Amino acid sequence: MSQFDVVVIGAGPGGYIAAIRAAQLGFKTACIDAGVNKAGDAPALGGTCLNVGCIPSKALLQSSEHFHAAQHDFAEHGITVGDVKFNAAKMIERKDAIVTKLTGGIKFLFQKNKVTSLFGTASFVGKNGDFWQLEVDDKGEKTTVEGKHIIVATGSTPRPLPLVDIDNVNVLDNEGALNLTEVPAKLGVIGAGVIGLEMGSVWNRVGSEVTILEASPVFLAAADQQIAKEAFKYFTREQGLHIELGVKLNKIISAKDKVTVEFSTAKGEAKTVEFDKLIVAIGRVPNTHGLNAEAVGLQKDDRGFIVVDGECRTNLPNVWAIGDVVRGPMLAHKASDEGVAVAERIAGQKPHLDFNTIPWVIYTDPEIAWVGKTEEQLKAEGVDYKKGTSGFGANGRAMGLGKAKGTVKVLADAKTDRILGVHMIGPMVSELITEGVVGMEFSASSEDIARIVHAHPTLSEVVHEAALAVDKRALHG
Ligand code: FAD
Ligand code: NAI
Repeated sequence: MSQFDVVVIGAGPGGYIAAIRAAQLGFKTACIDAGVNKAGDAPALGGTCLNVGCIPSKALLQSSEHFHAAQHDFAEHGITVGDVKFNAAKMIERKDAIVTKLTGGIKFLFQKNKVTSLFGTASFVGKNGDFWQLEVDDKGEKTTVEGKHIIVATGSTPRPLPLVDIDNVNVLDNEGALNLTEVPAKLGVIGAGVIGLEMGSVWNRVGSEVTILEASPVFLAAADQQIAKEAFKYFTREQGLHIELGVKLNKIISAKDKVTVEFSTAKGEAKTVEFDKLIVAIGRVPNTHGLNAEAVGLQKDDRGFIVVDGECRTNLPNVWAIGDVVRGPMLAHKASDEGVAVAERIAGQKPHLDFNTIPWVIYTDPEIAWVGKTEEQLKAEGVDYKKGTSGFGANGRAMGLGKAKGTVKVLADAKTDRILGVHMIGPMVSELITEGVVGMEFSASSEDIARIVHAHPTLSEVVHEAALAVDKRALHG
């Protein structure tokens, strides 16, 4: 039997980072993970994010963006490329190579940091003195591992839709959506959330006719609505995504080579649409499957999330939980930062994670990013605020890139000028949002950003202009 100071369950961005940090801090650390590669024949570290989430989706977004650019954008640069062809299987092959490289990289990082990497499904057994006992099941071969501290980082799985089973042939979750080797002529997507928009964009760019059916009458309800409305306009009017809001699904029939969806529109009109493939992306649920949490009384809430306090402590002593399996946004960077913080807390340090400064990014084109409060939230909370906006339309760098579209909005407290939220739609705003995050972490005022020199010509000048506009002194507005 092996004993460790820290045992992490799950090697997604929460778990593998927690394990590395714990090992760096001098703890004898093990990380147990049950993830397998696409072929299902070898362990694959990295969890949802590296295998079937963040990384593969961004690889496909890039490939599809290139194809779209070659067809539609190159000509204005004077570049003629003739008959541009697309090979979906090749795109998937490239994506798979990136995934293999990165998941292999974690194996290397574990070796470098002396983290013991164990393969199998971990479940709680009980306690042996100060140590928690776990059973690790590797295809029926069982071993026992003991840890003084346990960090549960078992992530999440797609929320099932009661109307239809996912077979990843006709009806797809994120795994299937990332592995189509042929472009479906008609693609349906249930849910206009982050996955729906990113995957819808990929397949739309390479030639699918994409229809997204969304239950909420509000598009991207979590985003600032000025930005969401601008995004809706680009996606529907310019890019041709059909997005139907406020729908109620009635029936889904998955036949041999088509999927029929019957739904009612927001106006109560009954509609039937046939698709070649249907992606279901209606959110994700916490994954505690196989953990045997009940055996030790590990508390979960009524939605299945492991209950933790603000510092990721569960109801059991020295058992911690992080990432998608606990409250808060289901984002890789949130999971990782919780992992670092827990390892440091175990070491007696006092790290702090500010949930209000966790950035969100949606990797559509244009990209959408935000940090802090939306205007809607500030209004609901009765906060007196001022705002400044600036567009990418007149930004020289954005024009050169052929991406002169979008808006940056800075929201600041009316009295103190402290930045309360930054919202963006535009080129590379996934990178630009960090200025807002740093500003908010350091309690910056909009004037602080306005007085910082921003390089010219850069996209960041739009952030600068938006900050200047808060005080009605934009120079190019
Ligand atoms: P996971 O990454 O889910 O990892 C959990 C690991 O635990 C898995 O390897 C699993 O096999 C293992 N496990 C589970 N139970 C056990 C057990 N009992 N024993 C042993 N091992 C177990 N987030 C972003 O921030 N940016 C993005 O661009 C982004 N894109 C995404 C795109 C898609 C299509 C999807 C689906 C998600 C995306 N996310 C993105 C979300 C991100 O993937 C998750 O927030 C992140 O992976 C959560 O990390 P985690 O460590 O909590 O869990
Ligand atoms: P989501 O929560 O972003 O969106 C789900 C959408 O489905 C919502 O708009 C919801 O109203 C809708 N919906 C729910 N039930 C429905 C029904 N019965 N019919 C029609 N619509 C319905 O969840 P999604 O897109 O599945 O992604 C899961 C999570 O993964 C995200 O919330 C995010 O945390 C993470 N993610 C992050 C990414 C990023 O950071 N760029 C990319 C992709 C995923």
